[in-house]
Amino acid sequence: MPGERTFESSRAPVTGASPGCESPGEGTRRVLAIEFVRRMRGASQPFLMRCDDDFFYVVKFQNNPQHVRVLANEMLAGRLAQRVGLPVPGCAIVEVGPELTPANGPLRFEFGTRTVPCEPGLHFGSRLAGLPSRSLIVDFLPDRLLRRVANLAPIFLGAFVLDKWTCNCDGRQVIFQRDADSEGSSYSAFLIDHGFCFNDGEWNFPDSPIRSLYPRRLVYESVRGLRSFEPYLSRIENLPPGELEACVREIPSAWCNGGRDQLLRLVERLYERRRRLRQLIIDAKNSSLRPFPNWT
Ligand SMILES: Nc1ncnc2c1ncn2[C@@H]1O[C@H](COP(=O)(O)OP(=O)(O)OP(=O)(O)O)[C@@H](O)[C@H]1O
Ligand SMILES: [Mg+2]
Repeated sequence: MPGERTFESSRAPVTGASPGCESPGEGTRRVLAIEFVRRMRGASQPFLMRCDDDFFYVVKFQNNPQHVRVLANEMLAGRLAQRVGLPVPGCAIVEVGPELTPANGPLRFEFGTRTVPCEPGLHFGSRLAGLPSRSLIVDFLPDRLLRRVANLAPIFLGAFVLDKWTCNCDGRQVIFQRDADSEGSSYSAFLIDHGFCFNDGEWNFPDSPIRSLYPRRLVYESVRGLRSFEPYLSRIENLPPGELEACVREIPSAWCNGGRDQLLRLVERLYERRRRLRQLIIDAKNSSLRPFPNWT
């Protein structure tokens, strides 16, 4: 059963191959969309679709209301997260055929009273964390349940380093998943929504010390100093350039809005930015938000 495969993999350790993901060395999965399931929330107006590998994917379309580069950002940042051992859902390039996008069909973007059909083609898919019928997936947890998430601190501290590196201009978003029938079991966390890394469609890095913080501050209680951001900090600092290039190799050119050379330039700048990471974290610590009260 595909659901079992997904659930099993969600128990993988934080530092190993990422839960729900192909292992970092593997190529990107390419799948065919079979049916529309439902609309998801979110400004890019993604859709849940069942695909021919029997998994369900949250699909962001090339002609989404945000920017086509959101798809490239999702794939690149997701791959980087995998490389450093953070839990992200598996991703895929999802082919949507014209038979699924008729003018009056459900795959349409809504702008007030106006609607625009989704275009067929190759789109970004984030594999649903679990099975729609068997998993409970939530965007937020109250503090009492948040404290019981497995590996809470490493996941959020690793995500913070990733977000500083990639200049994620959106808030940190995480989904929490558990088996629907096991009330009382702990939740697994997955990092999602990397569409605004690299500053959305701009592909630049307008750093700000108050960006990338998760609104529930208890996730940062364990921070005592820069060492609290290990092993992620050192892993990023020591990533060889070839591994970064491998993360963009399979991104379709159509997601780049103007040529792959800009994508390669983005990777070069990311490589250079590794050296600024420690300072970016210190700037956040000294910011008016004082996010790390236990830093000594
Ligand atoms: N892999 C996944 N598994 C389960 N649910 C997911 C997954 N990816 C996204 N979702 C759900 O879909 C919603 C929309 O996804 P996402 O936040 O990536 O879209 P968005 O359009 O970028 O949103 P925003 O309005 O924050 O820009 C999320 O809030 C989450 O509930
Ligand atoms: Mg979002």
